[in-house]
Amino acid sequence: GRCVVAVDGPSGSGKSTVSRRLAVSLDARYLDTGAMYRAITWAVLRSGVDLTDAASVAKVAGEVDLRIGTDPQGYGVTADGVTVDKEIRGPEVTGAVSAVAAVPAVRELLVARQREMIAKAGRIVVEGRDIGSVVAPDADLKVYLTASEAARAQRRSAEDAADVAATAADLARRDKIDSTRKVNPLQQAPDAVELDTTALGIDEVVARLRELLTE
Ligand code: CDP
Repeated sequence: GRCVVAVDGPSGSGKSTVSRRLAVSLDARYLDTGAMYRAITWAVLRSGVDLTDAASVAKVAGEVDLRIGTDPQGYGVTADGVTVDKEIRGPEVTGAVSAVAAVPAVRELLVARQREMIAKAGRIVVEGRDIGSVVAPDADLKVYLTASEAARAQRRSAEDAADVAATAADLARRDKIDSTRKVNPLQQAPDAVELDTTALGIDEVVARLRELLTE
């Protein structure tokens, strides 16, 4: 039957790995909303418009043909027919995504798309920053994953083969923009279960979420 799980939290909290594994174990679809903001950002950068010009950013976002799969074992992202899976993880997009994601018209557009995809899937794990609070307030389970700043920087720098100090600085920079923007800031929904993953392995987190779903 229908089952919607909302997983929110800052970068490096373990959202993506946990959400994908949980979706596989529930035989559900998976939606990476961060990948959607990243793909729009890729299109904005390619267009050359000024990132601080919200109207132009919104115009590009409205015109790009964004497609994203929902298979937890491997989903593709295309923008205007171009496969952008690698590009959206690069430093240019990571450096610009929080600014693009703060533009109200961009959020309105993507939140609507995300709600359509959730309705269509029925059984789905959705990962992001505003899923429990805005996109799917009626989710069956809302989780807010956290981890210490050191653990988050450690995990992310290992994934990206990047310098830990530089990664920590980038995470802090994005957290600040994401949690202080005017529209739909990163926040824990009042009815979300908070789980600190600093000392937990992925399997432990997934097992805990499965328990919460059956409670
Ligand atoms: O994987 P990581 O945590 O680094 O980031 P992500 O989930 O790919 O999201 C990238 C950026 O998109 C975030 O830093 C936010 O600025 C934005 N985002 C958002 O505003 N709302 C969402 N639901 C998901 C992502």
